[in-house]
Amino acid sequence: MYVAIMGYGVVGSGVATLLKKNHEHIVKKSMQSEMELKYILDRRTFPGDPYEHLLITDFSKIVEDDEVKIVVETMGGLHPAYEYVLASLKAGKNVVTSNKELVAAKGCELLKVADENNVNFLFEASVGGGIPIIRPISQCLAANDIDEIAGILNGTTNFILTKMITDGMTFDEALLLAQKNGYAERDPSADVDGFDACRKICILAALCFGKHVYPDAVYTEGIRKITLADVEYARAWGGVIKLIAKAKKLEDGRVSVMVSPAFIQNHSQLASVDDVFNAILVRGDAIGDVVFYGKGAGKMPTASAVVADVIDCARHMERKKFFGWQDSEEGYVADYLETENTFYIRATTENAAAAVAKFTELFGEISLLSRQDAPEGEFAFTTKSISEKELADKLGLVNEASVESVIRITNY
Ligand code: HSE
Repeated sequence: MYVAIMGYGVVGSGVATLLKKNHEHIVKKSMQSEMELKYILDRRTFPGDPYEHLLITDFSKIVEDDEVKIVVETMGGLHPAYEYVLASLKAGKNVVTSNKELVAAKGCELLKVADENNVNFLFEASVGGGIPIIRPISQCLAANDIDEIAGILNGTTNFILTKMITDGMTFDEALLLAQKNGYAERDPSADVDGFDACRKICILAALCFGKHVYPDAVYTEGIRKITLADVEYARAWGGVIKLIAKAKKLEDGRVSVMVSPAFIQNHSQLASVDDVFNAILVRGDAIGDVVFYGKGAGKMPTASAVVADVIDCARHMERKKFFGWQDSEEGYVADYLETENTFYIRATTENAAAAVAKFTELFGEISLLSRQDAPEGEFAFTTKSISEKELADKLGLVNEASVESVIRITNY
């Protein structure tokens, strides 16, 4: 059986390495007589690379080669990955991808095309890198009615927050270190602004609840505004700040999906997930809470998930995986302003007594927090549970203080 890889970057080269390193074992598990890498598509040149002889720049060689039965897409980005994957599926080839942007934007459509062409479209590596999560949700937890998922789905932001919490680094210092370590890109927006985590929670929500969740329908907030003052107040409250992506089924059939920084209590299973690690909590009616933990990114952990899908494709040439993933209608994702939360608020004022009185009048009972060395005029508190809409309306009525930070509080 022949395989082609599209995109010879970090993950693609990891896939080639793993296919060779564990070749015998992979062939055996695939229940094939052979498993050979035939092409690697990439515009760049790799002089001296052990697979230099397999490198091509022309996609048509892959799509027109009947011997290639499995195409691995590790290019990233939407274009031309989408066009190449679509053409591969239409040509009757199984496709395995690690590309969360592609699956989040086009997963439903590509699964339909795969179905029409009697091939598999698998994407275990698109969420959580090497952590098994797609297969456990769609197979191992299939008997459950899952009503909620929440997780730390981005390693880079978790690394940055960990450095802020444990080493007292500012956001800028921690971002610089993440870039030096090769976690964050030179343009770190996809990670620090929450878009990467958003794509991943969209994929998980579609799998758990059966309908496509489009990323642009999801309220997404990153971690750029988090300061060391917020970290200190979280500590005083008894927890830490994490970037949480969550999705919940609502009683009326819609879903609530959101990505934002959140206070998490120290005893939560998610609170001790540090550095570049990811963790995903799935809440099912039979299983209760189950947490998947591990390396959410990186060359070999992600290649591990990709090659597992390649093996799965090889074993199930005649049988398709069913994900039960349909398209969704307008309004399927509820407006985030309807969501209820408790909130942490940090503000500055020239008249603390008046400001606290105003917040108390607006929010009812509030719980004040304190931290060492707080500058004159700074104060922070947590609210009772209110909707995002109510919160925004009430904050609009405050003239006695300047609100510097608002962070959601979770109960995971
Ligand atoms: N940039 C991502 C992360 C890599 O930091 O988690 C995997 O999606």
